[in-house]
Amino acid sequence: MSSLIPIRFQEFDLEAMAQAGGRVAIIIPDDGKMSPAARRANRLTKGGLARLVESESFRKSKTGDVVSMAWPTGMAAEALDVLVLPRRPEAGEARKAGAALAKLAGGKDMLVMVGNQARAKDLALGIVLRSYEFDAHKTKESQKAGTVTISHAKPAEAEADFAPLYAIADGVRMTRDLTNEPANVLTTTEFADRLVEMQELGLEVEVLDEDKLAELGMRTLLSVGQGSDSPSKVVVMQWNGGAKDDAPLALVGKGVVFDTGGISLKPAAGMEEMTMDMGGAGVVAGTMRALAKRKAKANVVALVGLVENMPSGNATRPGDVVRSMKGDTVEIINTDAEGRLVLCDVMWYAQERFKPVGMIDLATLTGAIIIGLGHENAGVFSNNDTFCDAFLKSAKAEDEGAWRMPLGDAYDKLLKSRIADMKNVGGRPAGSVTAAQFLQRFVKEETPWIHLDIAGVASVAEETSYAPKGATGWGVRALSRFVQDNFE
Ligand code: BES
Ligand code: MN
Ligand code: ZN
Repeated sequence: MSSLIPIRFQEFDLEAMAQAGGRVAIIIPDDGKMSPAARRANRLTKGGLARLVESESFRKSKTGDVVSMAWPTGMAAEALDVLVLPRRPEAGEARKAGAALAKLAGGKDMLVMVGNQARAKDLALGIVLRSYEFDAHKTKESQKAGTVTISHAKPAEAEADFAPLYAIADGVRMTRDLTNEPANVLTTTEFADRLVEMQELGLEVEVLDEDKLAELGMRTLLSVGQGSDSPSKVVVMQWNGGAKDDAPLALVGKGVVFDTGGISLKPAAGMEEMTMDMGGAGVVAGTMRALAKRKAKANVVALVGLVENMPSGNATRPGDVVRSMKGDTVEIINTDAEGRLVLCDVMWYAQERFKPVGMIDLATLTGAIIIGLGHENAGVFSNNDTFCDAFLKSAKAEDEGAWRMPLGDAYDKLLKSRIADMKNVGGRPAGSVTAAQFLQRFVKEETPWIHLDIAGVASVAEETSYAPKGATGWGVRALSRFVQDNFE
């Protein structure tokens, strides 16, 4: 497991600039006006900074860009990073700027001369998010995490403002760790253990084992895990920070720790990527961590279905018919369409037990959503415009791509089965929509519901503004904000 880079807020101190090791960053607005820190840097570098500011490359730079001066004269630092940022940046601009600085620092010490510039907390969040590295399995001595010092006019105030964002960053970190972890390490049991550990944050955590799941009638979920030696589990996490009688918001996550496809085996090329098929459960876990750490004043319950989809002599076959907890029967045409079989039972259980005010499920559900939306947006499906719009607003504010997709009877019809109540696949056209239609059959009329297909955004091959290659933690920030803006 990784840990978050620590951030220190310190009294604004120009004297520290000359002696600081690692990298020193200063902020210059796009008009080129020099702050006290910039003037000091210019004096230390004997006018070098002024030359940089007048240079063509600086004049061409845009908000969020960093222009660096290597081994500046008169300073102990190995680089002076000049960050272009307006005096009153948008939150997203400040975050991206912080991320750009962190990427340059690569884990080394940095001193950021913020002074009285606005949005220090967002700058710091960007630094923390982009400093993430998954090095749990690198045996060579991992680079010592450097320290980040923010030199600020009002350090105590800035630090207090930053605290809830640091809590959210720790949730993102957890999601990324879970999603990056290989499947021989993150078994269903290990996953459940890591969730149980969150009890120390004040979360109530319960683990339902296979006997209990069988007793509850979760046969579609169990049918997915039955080919694996790892036992299937459902973990329930409750955060009760709101009023005693308020019904909770429910979050449900697909936690397929590895998806071979089962008997409908996937091709070998790229199969290793299916270690991230628990990404939905990872986001749900990280969100609960963030809510607990920032002591959210809301009631939220989270349920994850943890299973491994393996072929074996005991695995589910194509053509098998199983009965869901709801009572509807499913003809399993393709054992690789397993996520929906896990979710439908967990979603039904969530509604029966908690009568939530709303329910959001997250799942790396379909390859088809990657064809439709690529890696920029998660697919959003909903039965309730108000609920959905509120979520889209939160996602937008957090710069997490989310795009609404349609639902409708014509798609639902594609799930008709000759011998059971439904099939688990609807054919190639609109594969993400028919997957969502399948889920909707397990959503009660009165439950506002959103399904987030995160197959394209949970883990990516190219770095993003806020994350290195690999797991992104997409959704933790949007969901934390959604809870804050609608339920606190
Ligand atoms: N876990 C996959 C979807 C997926 C694909 C996630 C690529 C991340 C990256 C899911 O269980 C799956 O296999 N879906 C099938 C459904 C099909 C059999 C109807 C798919 O998308 O091909
Ligand atoms: Mn699958
Ligand atoms: Zn899957």
